[in-house]
Amino acid sequence: MLYIGIDLGTSAVKLLLMDGQGKIHHIVSKEYPLYFPHPGWSEQKPEDWWDAVLEGLKELTQDCDKSQIAGISFGGQMHGLVALDEDDHVIRPAILWNDGRTQKQTDYLNNVIGKEKLSAYTANIAFAGFTAPKILWMREEEPENFEKIKMVMLPKDYIAFKLTGVYSTDVSDASGMLIFDVKNKRWSKEMLEICGITEAQVPKIFESYETVGTILPEIAKELGFPETVRIAAGAGDNAAAAVGTGTVGDGMCNISLGTSGTIFISSKSFGVDEHNALHSFAHADGHYHLMGCMLSAASCNKWWMDEIIGTKDYAKEQAKIEKLGENHVFFLPYLMGERSPHNNPNARGTFIGMTMDTTRADMTQAVLEGVAFAIRDSFEVAKSLGIHIERTKICGGGAKSPLWKKIIANVLGIKVDVIESEEGPGYGGAMLAAVACGEYASVEEAAGKLVKVIDTVEPEADLVEKYNERYEKFAEIYPAVKDLFDTVTR
Ligand code: XUL
Repeated sequence: MLYIGIDLGTSAVKLLLMDGQGKIHHIVSKEYPLYFPHPGWSEQKPEDWWDAVLEGLKELTQDCDKSQIAGISFGGQMHGLVALDEDDHVIRPAILWNDGRTQKQTDYLNNVIGKEKLSAYTANIAFAGFTAPKILWMREEEPENFEKIKMVMLPKDYIAFKLTGVYSTDVSDASGMLIFDVKNKRWSKEMLEICGITEAQVPKIFESYETVGTILPEIAKELGFPETVRIAAGAGDNAAAAVGTGTVGDGMCNISLGTSGTIFISSKSFGVDEHNALHSFAHADGHYHLMGCMLSAASCNKWWMDEIIGTKDYAKEQAKIEKLGENHVFFLPYLMGERSPHNNPNARGTFIGMTMDTTRADMTQAVLEGVAFAIRDSFEVAKSLGIHIERTKICGGGAKSPLWKKIIANVLGIKVDVIESEEGPGYGGAMLAAVACGEYASVEEAAGKLVKVIDTVEPEADLVEKYNERYEKFAEIYPAVKDLFDTVTR
Protein backbone atom coordinates (compact mmCIF):
# COMPACT_ATOMS: atom_id res chain seq x y z
CA MET A 1 0.00 0.00 0.00
CA LEU A 2 1.01 3.65 -0.37
CA TYR A 3 1.01 6.41 2.26
CA ILE A 4 1.25 10.16 1.87
CA GLY A 5 2.92 12.49 4.36
CA ILE A 6 2.11 16.20 4.11
CA ASP A 7 4.61 18.53 5.75
CA LEU A 8 2.74 21.83 5.95
CA GLY A 9 5.67 24.18 6.48
CA THR A 10 6.09 27.93 6.63
CA SER A 11 7.78 28.49 3.28
CA ALA A 12 6.22 25.55 1.43
CA VAL A 13 4.24 22.35 1.70
CA LYS A 14 6.25 19.20 1.02
CA LEU A 15 4.37 16.05 0.07
CA LEU A 16 5.95 12.62 0.21
CA LEU A 17 4.79 9.27 -1.17
CA MET A 18 6.00 6.23 0.76
CA ASP A 19 5.30 2.51 0.48
CA GLY A 20 4.67 0.13 3.37
CA GLN A 21 8.38 -0.74 3.57
CA GLY A 22 9.26 2.91 4.05
CA LYS A 23 10.68 3.49 0.58
CA ILE A 24 10.12 7.04 -0.64
CA HIS A 25 8.76 7.05 -4.21
CA HIS A 26 8.30 10.71 -4.85
CA ILE A 27 8.54 14.13 -3.17
CA VAL A 28 6.83 17.31 -4.34
CA SER A 29 7.16 20.79 -2.91
CA LYS A 30 4.82 23.78 -3.45
CA GLU A 31 5.56 27.25 -2.13
CA TYR A 32 3.08 29.84 -0.90
CA PRO A 33 3.44 33.43 0.24
CA LEU A 34 4.24 34.48 3.78
CA TYR A 35 3.04 37.94 4.80
CA PHE A 36 4.69 40.28 7.31
CA PRO A 37 2.02 43.04 7.55
CA HIS A 38 4.01 44.73 10.37
CA PRO A 39 7.54 44.11 11.67
CA GLY A 40 7.31 41.03 13.89
CA TRP A 41 3.92 39.91 12.52
CA SER A 42 3.65 36.78 10.39
CA GLU A 43 0.59 35.53 8.50
CA GLN A 44 -0.46 33.07 5.80
CA LYS A 45 -3.71 32.36 4.01
CA PRO A 46 -5.10 28.89 4.79
CA GLU A 47 -6.70 28.92 1.33
CA ASP A 48 -3.16 29.11 -0.15
CA TRP A 49 -2.18 26.03 1.88
CA TRP A 50 -5.19 24.12 0.60
CA ASP A 51 -4.58 25.09 -3.05
CA ALA A 52 -0.93 24.04 -2.74
CA VAL A 53 -1.88 20.73 -1.07
CA LEU A 54 -4.42 19.86 -3.78
CA GLU A 55 -2.02 20.74 -6.57
CA GLY A 56 0.79 18.89 -4.77
CA LEU A 57 -1.31 15.74 -4.24
CA LYS A 58 -2.11 15.62 -7.96
CA GLU A 59 1.52 16.01 -8.96
CA LEU A 60 2.75 13.58 -6.31
CA THR A 61 0.50 10.75 -7.41
CA GLN A 62 0.35 11.31 -11.18
CA ASP A 63 2.55 8.29 -11.99
CA CYS A 64 1.55 5.89 -9.22
CA ASP A 65 -1.15 3.24 -9.01
CA LYS A 66 -3.69 5.38 -7.15
CA SER A 67 -5.75 2.35 -6.10
CA GLN A 68 -2.86 1.54 -3.72
CA ILE A 69 -3.15 4.80 -1.78
CA ALA A 70 -4.34 3.85 1.71
CA GLY A 71 -3.65 6.77 4.03
CA ILE A 72 -2.64 10.40 4.40
CA SER A 73 -1.31 12.22 7.42
CA PHE A 74 0.59 15.34 8.42
CA GLY A 75 3.32 17.20 10.15
CA GLY A 76 2.12 20.78 10.42
CA GLN A 77 3.61 24.12 11.42
CA MET A 78 2.43 24.52 15.01
CA HIS A 79 0.52 27.16 17.03
CA GLY A 80 -1.01 29.05 14.05
CA LEU A 81 -4.52 30.38 14.66
CA VAL A 82 -6.99 29.37 11.95
CA ALA A 83 -10.52 30.64 12.67
CA LEU A 84 -13.59 29.48 10.73
CA ASP A 85 -17.00 31.14 10.58
CA GLU A 86 -20.50 29.63 10.50
CA ASP A 87 -20.04 28.65 6.82
CA ASP A 88 -16.60 27.14 7.45
CA HIS A 89 -14.92 30.05 5.71
CA VAL A 90 -11.60 31.34 7.02
CA ILE A 91 -12.31 34.58 8.92
CA ARG A 92 -8.88 36.22 8.62
CA PRO A 93 -5.36 35.14 7.59
CA ALA A 94 -3.81 32.65 9.99
CA ILE A 95 -1.54 34.20 12.63
CA LEU A 96 1.58 32.02 12.62
CA TRP A 97 3.89 30.43 15.19
CA ASN A 98 6.59 33.08 14.67
CA ASP A 99 4.25 36.08 15.01
CA GLY A 100 5.19 38.40 17.86
CA ARG A 101 2.15 40.72 18.05
CA THR A 102 0.74 39.33 21.29
CA GLN A 103 3.21 40.73 23.83
CA LYS A 104 0.38 42.43 25.76
CA GLN A 105 -1.78 39.28 25.88
CA THR A 106 1.23 37.10 26.70
CA ASP A 107 2.14 39.40 29.60
CA TYR A 108 -1.49 39.33 30.79
CA LEU A 109 -1.51 35.54 30.80
CA ASN A 110 1.89 35.16 32.47
CA ASN A 111 1.60 38.02 34.96
CA VAL A 112 -2.10 38.51 35.71
CA ILE A 113 -3.44 34.96 35.37
CA GLY A 114 0.03 33.87 36.48
CA LYS A 115 2.58 31.34 35.31
CA GLU A 116 1.79 28.93 38.13
CA LYS A 117 -1.85 28.65 37.13
CA LEU A 118 -1.01 28.38 33.43
CA SER A 119 1.49 25.64 34.15
CA ALA A 120 -1.02 23.80 36.36
CA TYR A 121 -3.73 24.01 33.68
CA THR A 122 -1.59 23.27 30.60
CA ALA A 123 1.98 22.28 31.69
CA ASN A 124 3.25 25.42 29.92
CA ILE A 125 3.39 29.19 30.22
CA ALA A 126 2.46 31.75 27.55
CA PHE A 127 4.80 32.54 24.64
CA ALA A 128 3.86 35.13 22.04
CA GLY A 129 3.60 32.51 19.28
CA PHE A 130 1.22 30.19 21.17
CA THR A 131 -2.42 30.09 20.13
CA ALA A 132 -4.18 31.29 23.31
CA PRO A 133 -2.59 34.79 23.29
CA LYS A 134 -3.65 35.08 19.64
CA ILE A 135 -7.26 34.24 20.50
CA LEU A 136 -7.12 36.98 23.18
CA TRP A 137 -5.56 39.38 20.66
CA MET A 138 -8.40 38.72 18.24
CA ARG A 139 -10.95 39.28 20.99
CA GLU A 140 -9.39 42.63 21.89
CA GLU A 141 -8.25 43.95 18.52
CA GLU A 142 -10.77 42.47 16.07
CA PRO A 143 -13.95 41.92 18.10
CA GLU A 144 -16.06 41.76 14.93
CA ASN A 145 -13.94 38.82 13.71
CA PHE A 146 -13.87 37.19 17.13
CA GLU A 147 -17.69 37.25 17.25
CA LYS A 148 -17.83 35.26 14.02
CA ILE A 149 -15.74 32.32 15.28
CA LYS A 150 -17.42 28.94 15.00
CA MET A 151 -14.22 26.88 15.23
CA VAL A 152 -10.54 27.48 15.97
CA MET A 153 -7.98 25.03 14.69
CA LEU A 154 -4.32 24.61 13.79
CA PRO A 155 -2.85 24.78 10.27
CA LYS A 156 -2.67 21.06 9.44
CA ASP A 157 -6.12 20.55 11.01
CA TYR A 158 -7.55 22.89 8.39
CA ILE A 159 -6.17 20.58 5.69
CA ALA A 160 -7.58 17.52 7.50
CA PHE A 161 -10.92 19.34 7.64
CA LYS A 162 -10.87 20.15 3.91
CA LEU A 163 -10.06 16.48 3.18
CA THR A 164 -12.61 14.88 5.52
CA GLY A 165 -15.12 17.49 6.68
CA VAL A 166 -14.18 16.59 10.29
CA TYR A 167 -12.94 19.15 12.84
CA SER A 168 -9.98 17.40 14.43
CA THR A 169 -6.65 17.98 16.07
CA ASP A 170 -4.03 15.76 17.63
CA VAL A 171 -2.48 15.76 21.08
CA SER A 172 0.99 16.99 20.05
CA ASP A 173 -0.23 20.03 18.11
CA ALA A 174 -3.00 20.83 20.63
CA SER A 175 -0.25 20.97 23.29
CA GLY A 176 1.06 24.19 21.71
CA MET A 177 -2.25 26.04 21.97
CA LEU A 178 -2.11 26.74 25.73
CA ILE A 179 -5.75 25.70 26.04
CA PHE A 180 -4.89 21.99 26.30
CA ASP A 181 -4.23 20.06 29.49
CA VAL A 182 -1.15 18.19 28.27
CA LYS A 183 -0.87 15.76 31.16
CA ASN A 184 -4.46 14.54 30.86
CA LYS A 185 -4.77 15.08 27.10
CA ARG A 186 -8.03 17.05 27.20
CA TRP A 187 -9.09 20.66 26.68
CA SER A 188 -8.53 22.87 29.72
CA LYS A 189 -11.90 24.27 30.80
CA GLU A 190 -10.12 27.06 32.71
CA MET A 191 -8.09 28.15 29.70
CA LEU A 192 -11.06 28.04 27.35
CA GLU A 193 -12.88 30.34 29.74
CA ILE A 194 -9.92 32.70 30.03
CA CYS A 195 -9.83 32.94 26.21
CA GLY A 196 -13.59 33.48 25.98
CA ILE A 197 -14.36 30.41 23.88
CA THR A 198 -16.26 27.20 24.57
CA GLU A 199 -15.57 23.52 24.02
CA ALA A 200 -17.94 23.66 21.02
CA GLN A 201 -15.44 25.99 19.29
CA VAL A 202 -12.46 23.63 19.49
CA PRO A 203 -11.97 20.43 17.50
CA LYS A 204 -12.11 16.82 18.65
CA ILE A 205 -8.81 15.48 19.98
CA PHE A 206 -7.10 12.39 18.55
CA GLU A 207 -3.81 10.62 19.09
CA SER A 208 -1.59 11.44 16.10
CA TYR A 209 -1.80 7.92 14.65
CA GLU A 210 -5.61 7.68 14.90
CA THR A 211 -7.94 7.92 11.92
CA VAL A 212 -9.99 11.11 11.80
CA GLY A 213 -12.14 10.04 8.87
CA THR A 214 -12.04 8.97 5.25
CA ILE A 215 -11.51 11.28 2.32
CA LEU A 216 -14.62 13.18 1.13
CA PRO A 217 -16.06 11.54 -2.02
CA GLU A 218 -15.80 14.74 -4.09
CA ILE A 219 -12.12 15.19 -3.17
CA ALA A 220 -11.42 11.50 -3.85
CA LYS A 221 -13.03 11.95 -7.28
CA GLU A 222 -11.03 15.07 -8.08
CA LEU A 223 -7.77 13.33 -7.12
CA GLY A 224 -8.65 9.91 -8.54
CA PHE A 225 -8.06 8.33 -5.08
CA PRO A 226 -10.12 5.46 -3.62
CA GLU A 227 -12.91 6.67 -1.31
CA THR A 228 -11.45 4.43 1.39
CA VAL A 229 -8.33 6.59 1.91
CA ARG A 230 -7.95 7.22 5.63
CA ILE A 231 -6.82 10.55 7.00
CA ALA A 232 -4.89 10.22 10.26
CA ALA A 233 -4.78 13.16 12.67
CA GLY A 234 -1.03 13.70 12.23
CA ALA A 235 1.18 15.81 14.47
CA GLY A 236 2.82 19.16 14.96
CA ASP A 237 5.82 19.30 12.64
CA ASN A 238 8.35 18.73 15.42
CA ALA A 239 6.60 15.64 16.77
CA ALA A 240 6.13 14.36 13.21
CA ALA A 241 9.83 15.02 12.51
CA ALA A 242 10.70 13.12 15.67
CA VAL A 243 8.68 10.15 14.41
CA GLY A 244 10.40 10.46 11.02
CA THR A 245 13.83 10.37 12.64
CA GLY A 246 12.96 7.57 15.07
CA THR A 247 12.95 9.88 18.10
CA VAL A 248 10.29 7.94 19.99
CA GLY A 249 10.05 6.20 23.36
CA ASP A 250 12.35 7.29 26.19
CA GLY A 251 15.28 9.72 26.21
CA MET A 252 15.85 10.17 22.47
CA CYS A 253 16.80 13.52 20.96
CA ASN A 254 16.18 15.21 17.60
CA ILE A 255 17.36 18.58 16.37
CA SER A 256 15.47 20.25 13.55
CA LEU A 257 17.15 22.99 11.52
CA GLY A 258 14.16 24.32 9.61
CA THR A 259 12.70 27.81 9.49
CA SER A 260 12.64 27.34 13.26
CA GLY A 261 15.25 25.40 15.20
CA THR A 262 14.18 22.89 17.79
CA ILE A 263 15.64 20.42 20.20
CA PHE A 264 13.16 17.66 20.99
CA ILE A 265 13.56 15.12 23.80
CA SER A 266 11.14 12.20 23.88
CA SER A 267 9.92 10.71 27.14
CA LYS A 268 7.59 7.90 28.13
CA SER A 269 6.45 9.87 31.14
CA PHE A 270 4.95 13.33 31.57
CA GLY A 271 7.31 15.94 32.99
CA VAL A 272 7.50 19.74 33.28
CA ASP A 273 10.52 22.03 33.34
CA GLU A 274 9.82 23.93 36.57
CA HIS A 275 10.93 27.21 34.94
CA ASN A 276 8.89 26.42 31.79
CA ALA A 277 11.79 27.41 29.53
CA LEU A 278 11.26 24.15 27.63
CA HIS A 279 7.78 23.27 26.39
CA SER A 280 6.14 20.20 27.88
CA PHE A 281 4.03 18.65 25.11
CA ALA A 282 2.40 15.34 24.19
CA HIS A 283 4.23 13.26 21.56
CA ALA A 284 2.89 11.61 18.43
CA ASP A 285 3.95 8.16 19.73
CA GLY A 286 1.32 8.29 22.49
CA HIS A 287 3.75 9.59 25.13
CA TYR A 288 5.33 13.02 25.87
CA HIS A 289 8.28 15.26 25.06
CA LEU A 290 10.18 18.37 26.13
CA MET A 291 11.14 20.88 23.47
CA GLY A 292 13.09 24.11 23.09
CA CYS A 293 12.20 26.17 20.03
CA MET A 294 14.18 29.03 18.50
CA LEU A 295 12.22 31.07 15.99
CA SER A 296 14.87 31.53 13.28
CA ALA A 297 17.35 28.78 12.44
CA ALA A 298 17.89 27.78 8.79
CA SER A 299 15.95 30.96 8.02
CA CYS A 300 18.89 33.00 9.43
CA ASN A 301 21.22 31.35 6.92
CA LYS A 302 18.67 31.78 4.13
CA TRP A 303 18.30 35.48 5.02
CA TRP A 304 22.07 35.95 5.13
CA MET A 305 22.65 34.13 1.83
CA ASP A 306 19.64 35.25 -0.22
CA GLU A 307 18.96 38.76 1.06
CA ILE A 308 22.28 40.06 2.30
CA ILE A 309 25.12 38.56 0.31
CA GLY A 310 22.87 37.63 -2.60
CA THR A 311 23.73 34.06 -3.52
CA LYS A 312 21.92 30.76 -3.86
CA ASP A 313 25.14 28.74 -3.70
CA TYR A 314 25.19 28.01 0.03
CA ALA A 315 27.74 25.18 -0.31
CA LYS A 316 30.25 27.45 -2.10
CA GLU A 317 29.98 30.06 0.67
CA GLN A 318 30.40 27.41 3.35
CA ALA A 319 33.47 25.98 1.57
CA LYS A 320 35.26 29.27 2.32
CA ILE A 321 34.99 28.64 6.07
CA GLU A 322 38.32 27.32 7.29
CA LYS A 323 38.76 27.74 11.01
CA LEU A 324 36.04 26.30 13.18
CA GLY A 325 36.04 27.35 16.81
CA GLU A 326 38.15 30.47 16.18
CA ASN A 327 35.77 33.02 14.78
CA HIS A 328 35.94 36.51 16.33
CA VAL A 329 32.42 37.41 15.12
CA PHE A 330 29.26 36.44 17.01
CA PHE A 331 25.70 36.50 15.74
CA LEU A 332 22.51 36.51 17.82
CA PRO A 333 19.96 34.75 15.59
CA TYR A 334 16.85 36.56 16.81
CA LEU A 335 15.50 37.83 13.48
CA MET A 336 11.88 37.14 14.56
CA GLY A 337 12.40 37.76 18.29
CA GLU A 338 13.14 34.65 20.35
CA ARG A 339 11.10 31.94 22.08
CA SER A 340 13.28 29.41 23.95
CA PRO A 341 14.70 30.17 26.34
CA HIS A 342 14.47 34.00 26.35
CA ASN A 343 10.74 34.43 25.58
CA ASN A 344 11.31 37.89 24.11
CA PRO A 345 9.47 38.96 20.92
CA ASN A 346 11.53 42.19 20.92
CA ALA A 347 14.92 40.44 20.65
CA ARG A 348 16.60 41.10 17.30
CA GLY A 349 19.41 39.75 15.12
CA THR A 350 22.81 41.15 16.09
CA PHE A 351 26.37 40.83 14.78
CA ILE A 352 29.12 41.74 17.21
CA GLY A 353 32.92 41.61 17.18
CA MET A 354 33.79 42.63 13.60
CA THR A 355 37.13 44.26 12.76
CA MET A 356 38.60 45.62 9.52
CA ASP A 357 39.91 42.17 8.62
CA THR A 358 36.57 40.41 9.12
CA THR A 359 35.66 38.47 5.99
CA ARG A 360 32.40 37.43 4.42
CA ALA A 361 33.25 33.84 5.43
CA ASP A 362 33.61 34.90 9.09
CA MET A 363 30.13 36.43 8.98
CA THR A 364 28.64 33.34 7.29
CA GLN A 365 30.32 31.18 9.92
CA ALA A 366 28.98 33.41 12.72
CA VAL A 367 25.43 32.87 11.42
CA LEU A 368 25.79 29.07 11.44
CA GLU A 369 27.46 29.15 14.87
CA GLY A 370 24.94 31.60 16.32
CA VAL A 371 22.12 29.17 15.53
CA ALA A 372 24.08 26.29 17.09
CA PHE A 373 24.78 28.35 20.24
CA ALA A 374 21.10 29.27 20.52
CA ILE A 375 20.20 25.57 20.33
CA ARG A 376 22.77 24.98 23.05
CA ASP A 377 20.87 27.47 25.23
CA SER A 378 17.92 25.03 25.30
CA PHE A 379 20.29 22.05 25.56
CA GLU A 380 21.75 23.61 28.73
CA VAL A 381 18.24 23.93 30.19
CA ALA A 382 17.66 20.22 29.52
CA LYS A 383 20.99 19.40 31.21
CA SER A 384 20.00 21.49 34.23
CA LEU A 385 16.91 19.26 34.57
CA GLY A 386 19.19 16.23 34.89
CA ILE A 387 18.53 15.04 31.33
CA HIS A 388 21.61 13.39 29.92
CA ILE A 389 21.90 13.47 26.13
CA GLU A 390 24.77 11.69 24.40
CA ARG A 391 23.56 11.73 20.84
CA THR A 392 20.93 13.29 18.63
CA LYS A 393 19.29 12.80 15.26
CA ILE A 394 19.06 15.78 12.94
CA CYS A 395 16.67 16.88 10.19
CA GLY A 396 15.40 19.93 8.30
CA GLY A 397 16.86 21.96 5.44
CA GLY A 398 19.91 23.03 7.47
CA ALA A 399 20.79 19.38 8.15
CA LYS A 400 21.77 19.01 4.51
CA SER A 401 24.95 20.98 5.26
CA PRO A 402 27.80 18.70 6.49
CA LEU A 403 29.53 21.77 7.95
CA TRP A 404 26.50 22.79 10.00
CA LYS A 405 26.14 19.24 11.34
CA LYS A 406 29.81 19.34 12.40
CA ILE A 407 29.30 22.69 14.13
CA ILE A 408 26.24 21.33 15.98
CA ALA A 409 28.10 18.17 17.09
CA ASN A 410 30.97 20.25 18.48
CA VAL A 411 28.99 23.12 19.98
CA LEU A 412 26.82 20.60 21.87
CA GLY A 413 29.62 18.08 22.37
CA ILE A 414 27.40 15.15 21.34
CA LYS A 415 27.21 12.63 18.49
CA VAL A 416 24.94 13.59 15.61
CA ASP A 417 23.32 10.61 13.89
CA VAL A 418 22.50 11.15 10.26
CA ILE A 419 19.56 9.16 8.99
CA GLU A 420 18.79 7.87 5.54
CA SER A 421 15.80 10.14 5.01
CA GLU A 422 16.13 13.69 6.32
CA GLU A 423 12.51 14.40 5.34
CA GLY A 424 11.52 14.60 9.02
CA PRO A 425 7.88 15.80 9.21
CA GLY A 426 6.80 14.45 5.80
CA TYR A 427 8.27 11.03 6.48
CA GLY A 428 6.84 11.03 10.01
CA GLY A 429 3.44 12.02 8.59
CA ALA A 430 3.51 9.10 6.15
CA MET A 431 4.53 6.77 9.00
CA LEU A 432 1.58 7.97 11.10
CA ALA A 433 -0.72 7.22 8.16
CA ALA A 434 0.79 3.73 7.88
CA VAL A 435 0.13 3.10 11.58
CA ALA A 436 -3.46 4.39 11.23
CA CYS A 437 -3.99 1.94 8.36
CA GLY A 438 -2.67 -1.01 10.38
CA GLU A 439 0.56 -1.50 8.41
CA TYR A 440 2.39 -1.20 11.75
CA ALA A 441 1.02 -1.91 15.21
CA SER A 442 2.51 1.22 16.80
CA VAL A 443 4.55 4.32 16.03
CA GLU A 444 7.49 2.78 17.87
CA GLU A 445 7.31 -0.36 15.73
CA ALA A 446 7.20 1.74 12.54
CA ALA A 447 10.17 3.83 13.69
CA GLY A 448 12.14 0.72 14.66
CA LYS A 449 11.59 -0.86 11.25
CA LEU A 450 11.83 2.16 8.94
CA VAL A 451 14.38 4.61 10.31
CA LYS A 452 18.01 3.85 9.45
CA VAL A 453 21.10 5.67 10.74
CA ILE A 454 23.65 5.89 7.90
CA ASP A 455 26.39 8.03 9.44
CA THR A 456 27.44 9.64 12.72
CA VAL A 457 29.24 12.96 13.13
CA GLU A 458 31.48 12.61 16.17
CA PRO A 459 32.46 15.61 18.30
CA GLU A 460 36.24 16.30 18.38
CA ALA A 461 37.68 16.99 21.85
CA ASP A 462 39.82 20.05 20.89
CA LEU A 463 36.99 21.63 18.92
CA VAL A 464 34.48 20.99 21.71
CA GLU A 465 36.88 22.77 24.07
CA LYS A 466 37.16 25.79 21.77
CA TYR A 467 33.41 25.94 21.30
CA ASN A 468 32.82 25.69 25.06
CA GLU A 469 34.86 28.86 25.48
CA ARG A 470 33.08 30.60 22.66
CA TYR A 471 29.67 29.55 23.97
CA GLU A 472 30.47 31.15 27.32
CA LYS A 473 31.10 34.44 25.50
CA PHE A 474 27.99 34.04 23.35
CA ALA A 475 25.91 33.50 26.49
CA GLU A 476 27.05 36.90 27.85
CA ILE A 477 25.88 38.89 24.83
CA TYR A 478 22.09 38.60 25.13
CA PRO A 479 21.89 39.68 28.80
CA ALA A 480 24.16 42.64 27.97
CA VAL A 481 22.03 43.95 25.08
CA LYS A 482 18.60 42.72 26.17
CA ASP A 483 17.30 46.09 27.40
CA LEU A 484 18.52 47.79 24.24
CA PHE A 485 16.16 45.68 22.16
CA ASP A 486 13.16 47.35 23.82
CA THR A 487 14.52 50.73 22.69
CA VAL A 488 15.63 49.90 19.15
CA THR A 489 12.87 47.46 18.13
CA ARG A 490 10.40 48.76 15.57
C1 XUL B 1 7.44 24.86 17.61
C2 XUL B 1 7.34 25.93 16.60
C3 XUL B 1 7.94 25.75 15.27
C4 XUL B 1 6.90 25.55 14.23
C5 XUL B 1 7.57 25.55 12.86
O1 XUL B 1 6.98 25.20 18.86
O2 XUL B 1 6.76 26.96 16.83
O3 XUL B 1 8.89 24.72 15.26
O4 XUL B 1 6.19 24.38 14.47
O5 XUL B 1 6.78 25.11 11.86
